[in-house]
Amino acid sequence: MSNNQHLVAPSILAANFANLQADVAMVHESEADWFHIDIMDGQFVPNISFGFPIIKAIRPLSNKVFDVHLMIATPDDYLEDFQKAGADVLTVHYEACNHLHRTIQRIKQLGMKAGVALNPHTPVALLEDIIADLDLVCLMSVNPGFGGQKFIPHTINKVRQLKALILRTNSKALIEIDGGVSMNNAEEILRAGVDVLVAGSSVFKSENPMETVRQLKAVDVSVSVV
Ligand code: DX5
Ligand code: ZN
Repeated sequence: MSNNQHLVAPSILAANFANLQADVAMVHESEADWFHIDIMDGQFVPNISFGFPIIKAIRPLSNKVFDVHLMIATPDDYLEDFQKAGADVLTVHYEACNHLHRTIQRIKQLGMKAGVALNPHTPVALLEDIIADLDLVCLMSVNPGFGGQKFIPHTINKVRQLKALILRTNSKALIEIDGGVSMNNAEEILRAGVDVLVAGSSVFKSENPMETVRQLKAVDVSVSVV
């Protein structure tokens, strides 16, 4: 992707749940492309976030893409429920799917885009035989479960490996990076080949969240580094 074609997806995990409507409106009015929606079940990850009622409640507030990231142990049991709740992109974890190919086909049959997320310890090479079927790969740059963690630098190498795999296989998959993304590392991340920046704390905990989204969107990697 060229100049400023990357997407920005604020993670509402870092929003103010006592006034979610206002934060959703901010993302809607901002230059953000997608909403990133983190679902945690207390099994796959050591935290519980929120479920269907929240997605359904905010669905009418914006027509932007709902990018739903399932950090749950048995995603296959709930694919249709997430489609009904309003997911546009549905991402399951590689580590949670015994029959990943079947899961991906089912997500697509339900009319959603299909994504796979990799934990920090899971090698990109394991996607070799599924990459052609994917619309998105989410590289976790923190251990999933919590917002506000520190970016794991090795993820940059994984982005480069994934980019090479995508080019070699002619896959259309977008590369998404999730965890610890801020204005301090966005440029390096984008230069490595990322298409979608997920950002929670760095957006919602900033002084001016809408301006932070604008800045993340405006990072320009078209000029080469001298
Ligand atoms: C972590 C979640 C992330 C999280 C990112 O398990 O998948 O989407 O919201 O939050 P920050 O940007 O604060 O690291
Ligand atoms: Zn996420």
